[in-house]
Amino acid sequence: MVSLGTPLSPSATRVMLLGSGELAKEVLIALQRLGVETIAVDRYADAPGHQVAHSARTITMSDPAQLRALVEAERPDVVVPEIEAIATGTLVELEAEGVRVVPTARAAQLTMDREGIRRLAAETLGLPTSAHRFCDSLDELRAAAAEVGFPCVVKPVVSSSGKGQSTLAGPDDVEAAWQYAMAGGRVTGTRVIVEGFVDFDYEITLLTVRSVRGGETVTDFCAPVGHRQEAGDYVESWQPQAMSPVALDRAQAIAAAVTADLGGLGLFGVELFVRGDEVWFSEVSPRPHDTGMVTMTTQWQDEFELHARALLGLPVDTTLRNPGASAVVYGGLDAVGVIFDGVDDALALPGVELRLFGKPESSTRRRMGVALARAEDVDTARATAREAAGRVHPRA
Ligand SMILES: Nc1ncnc2c1ncn2[C@@H]1O[C@H](COP(=O)(O)OP(=O)(O)OP(=O)(O)O)[C@@H](O)[C@H]1O
Ligand SMILES: [Mg+2]
Repeated sequence: MVSLGTPLSPSATRVMLLGSGELAKEVLIALQRLGVETIAVDRYADAPGHQVAHSARTITMSDPAQLRALVEAERPDVVVPEIEAIATGTLVELEAEGVRVVPTARAAQLTMDREGIRRLAAETLGLPTSAHRFCDSLDELRAAAAEVGFPCVVKPVVSSSGKGQSTLAGPDDVEAAWQYAMAGGRVTGTRVIVEGFVDFDYEITLLTVRSVRGGETVTDFCAPVGHRQEAGDYVESWQPQAMSPVALDRAQAIAAAVTADLGGLGLFGVELFVRGDEVWFSEVSPRPHDTGMVTMTTQWQDEFELHARALLGLPVDTTLRNPGASAVVYGGLDAVGVIFDGVDDALALPGVELRLFGKPESSTRRRMGVALARAEDVDTARATAREAAGRVHPRA
């Protein structure tokens, strides 16, 4: 039996989010709706999630001492990492000392480093992935790129949102790719992965949930989310992405294998490349995925509610309600306290919703909001979401 307490009282069920961006904000809202007491943590004040939580804390989450001190002071029932750049070694220690980490501290640790999750998928689980090598120097990269073949993709092993990532057409591009990767990794380090370029027809995020139903841990899949990336960052997503029955079966089998190994309870975003009936595993987030924001307009329970319910040990329903799409609203300028013009014009479009994240500072390529559109079919939804996002104009 799952029992939930009363927030701000001794009986409270207390959940701490590590990372308080737009995805955490929605998880926090879902938790608040169930009367869970929430603590939102981020590296800067007034982050989106800070604005909707019972309490807000600002620390450097990659600093083991700061992270440990905060968890020991707050004593949450559950710790939920929302970003990759966390002192995951400290999470592993805290878990061993009895703190619950969602889905598991090991999942957070393996997925913050491309090498951990790639070796698990390719070597331990034997799943199909792009050809790949890990390298620590420019010379090693030259040799590895030649082995993997061109075109290929170079990425720092620790990085996200496409930072430090480049596609190489031939040997002449190796040196620039190395320099770019060295400049772009989020955590200091010199290790990179070089991957063979997968010439996919489309790529998907398969949102996969591990939850408890009738005393058993079960795995459910959302309808596939299709998406388009520019410079390693998602610009639009839609659901459902049409797939052949064989490709869908393979995608679900891969997602089931990876999430079963990572374990725990919660929602995962499994990134897959698809060509015809062939499916390749790319990477996985052990938490809601940015491309999954589309579920706020397509599912009865969006990915954030699914994560909140699953981590609390509650049952979930991944049923699709209607087709829909999301399109990102970028800052377009560097400014503090931006004003969004055209919100009324965007919302005048049929079936459109908008999320403005409330980030205190904007920059050109910073995601400041997202337009959501539901429609009879995905093509209409995509066109409408793009149109709506284009009607929102941030200014200083
Ligand atoms: N081997 C590959 N072949 C073809 N395309 C690739 C390959 N690797 C990455 N890409 C493209 O680049 C995008 C970003 O790559 P990846 O997901 O590995 O980076 P990331 O920095 O973790 O991005 P994010 O944090 O946004 O998920 C992919 O979604 C895909 O479009
Ligand atoms: Mg990715």
